[in-house]
Amino acid sequence: MLRIGMLTSGGDCQALNATMRAIYKSVAHNAKEPFEFYGFQDGYKGLMYNKYRMLTGDDFTGILTVGGTILGTSRVPFKDIRKPDENGNDKVEMMKHTYNELELDCLVVLGGNGSLKTANLLSQEGLNVIAMPKTIDNDLWGTDMTFGFQSAVDIATRAIDEIHTTASSHGRVFIVEIMGHKTGWLPLNAGIAGGADIILLPEIPYSMDKIVEVIEKKKTNNAGRFMILAVAEGAISQEDKKLSKKEYKKQLQNYMFPSVSYKLAAEIEERTGREVRVTVPGHTQRGGMPDAYDRVFASRLGSEGGRMICEGAFGFMVAYRNREIVRVPLEDAAGKLKLVQPDSTIINEARMLGISFGD
Ligand code: F6P
Repeated sequence: MLRIGMLTSGGDCQALNATMRAIYKSVAHNAKEPFEFYGFQDGYKGLMYNKYRMLTGDDFTGILTVGGTILGTSRVPFKDIRKPDENGNDKVEMMKHTYNELELDCLVVLGGNGSLKTANLLSQEGLNVIAMPKTIDNDLWGTDMTFGFQSAVDIATRAIDEIHTTASSHGRVFIVEIMGHKTGWLPLNAGIAGGADIILLPEIPYSMDKIVEVIEKKKTNNAGRFMILAVAEGAISQEDKKLSKKEYKKQLQNYMFPSVSYKLAAEIEERTGREVRVTVPGHTQRGGMPDAYDRVFASRLGSEGGRMICEGAFGFMVAYRNREIVRVPLEDAAGKLKLVQPDSTIINEARMLGISFGD
């Protein structure tokens, strides 16, 4: 009997269900022995506290297009993994205990950066782990793409698209705040797709003088009636970058909402006299159906995940490199962020089109 544990961890996104469905199908069609799927509830929490339900083919029927996760998810335990839980129990030992008690042959983790660190830790503790690259941020090292990303790009792009009419009718400056605290893949791609004039990313600290210059310059040509900025949640100015995290957070408290977008809006209004509005699509970017790209991608990743389970190949993240599905050792992938490189070709191509990064 092949006993397979599975969990979804960290922020939800599109195609979690599509990926799990593909793993199940791949195992169901290829396993040489009977198998059982144990679905842990709410991420690693379920593994810690032995909360699971048996999953059969029925659970995976009709979920290819359904967003979110049928298993539930949580960000537990992330940074505090080495701290005992409220009953004084060691979290890693609890997870190992559940795995051994259920006599699992492997654990499949669908997760992003934080989840991968825990997956790697469990792998080093002797558990058979396979990870699937999940996140709308597309910031996992070792893979060119994560599932959820393309669907989120579509939604963030639509948010920018739908701002165009109001921005142009009122001749306003619009800031669309797009998810991405540490990395800017999502705002970069949605900003290009949505025709933003300025894209601000965590990886390229901006200068307020430059932003004012770009806005003033556009006003002097025919296209200058409106201006759209695609701003990452984690965008930061060159001056603020010098502050401590605490000082920066304190400074943001001065604005309507403590975020870089509202700070920018106030500063642009003050310096240019233009009317500025902020739109935050927020968690809509993680919601709803996976797009066609993500459904195909999730199916490919899950197909390989199932193959690895059948082969007994563990300690890897399934990844995508140079258009191929590949296996990357967990220890290589875990704990490293894939940042947008300021001198990368996509940034240079965008600059050629006149898009400003505010630097
Ligand atoms: O990592 C995915 C993500 O959506 C980030 O883009 C965003 O900064 C963060 O999660 C939001 O987290 P939460 O859902 O916990 O507010």
